[in-house]
Amino acid sequence: MSDTRYLTFALGKGRLANKTLALFEKIGITCEEIHDKDTRKLIFVNEDLKLRFFLAKGPDVPTYVEYGAADIGIVGEDTILEEGRNIYEVLDLKFGKCRMCICGPAEAKELLQHHELIRVATKYPNIAKDYFYNKKHQTVEIIKLNGSIELAPIVGLSEVICDIVETGSTLRENGLIVLEEVCPLSARMVVNQVSMKMENERITKLIKDLKNVLNQEG
Ligand code: PRP
Repeated sequence: MSDTRYLTFALGKGRLANKTLALFEKIGITCEEIHDKDTRKLIFVNEDLKLRFFLAKGPDVPTYVEYGAADIGIVGEDTILEEGRNIYEVLDLKFGKCRMCICGPAEAKELLQHHELIRVATKYPNIAKDYFYNKKHQTVEIIKLNGSIELAPIVGLSEVICDIVETGSTLRENGLIVLEEVCPLSARMVVNQVSMKMENERITKLIKDLKNVLNQEG
């Protein structure tokens, strides 16, 4: 394997990365040093398998993959849709399941039904734009925020939000509800377009092994 080049993986930081590493362990891909919580290292290597891993902010994962700085990325479908990068989406990993929804106080339902000009706060302006402009044909004002999106309708920044709902507890605890569902989401594996050709054998085997494990788990 000495002349084999490294395959590089970009993993979205946080819950997705932990679940990805647990899944990879089931197909014999391990990376001990990445589990060390005190380390400041950014790149982790499995010399035997010629694999490298790094953790990145979710929205940056498709960027690393499009430019070939990573051959493979693991990231939420929300990020893939929002970033719109030229990458191949090759596998649904079936975890990280949640929904992209339009949420707000119950009274806001009417504003959506009557196509009123409303404000929509979101971390996902492209997804929100596509939903309101192309699917609903409703003109809205989109306000980009970077987190704690549920605050927006509570403090009067917007009438509704376009955000991820997983358990629904953030909405419940803040007196908001799901008004409309945009789409279901889950974690996906993405691949650089050139890597898919140059490293086809290794990447195809990886996808096949992962599919087998995912099918066994149902
Ligand atoms: C996400 C999302 C919601 C929450 C939904 O936020 O933006 O706020 O999780 O999860 P739930 O339905 O299980 O309550 P995240 O934790 O990523 O924080 P942030 O939006 O402040 O970045």
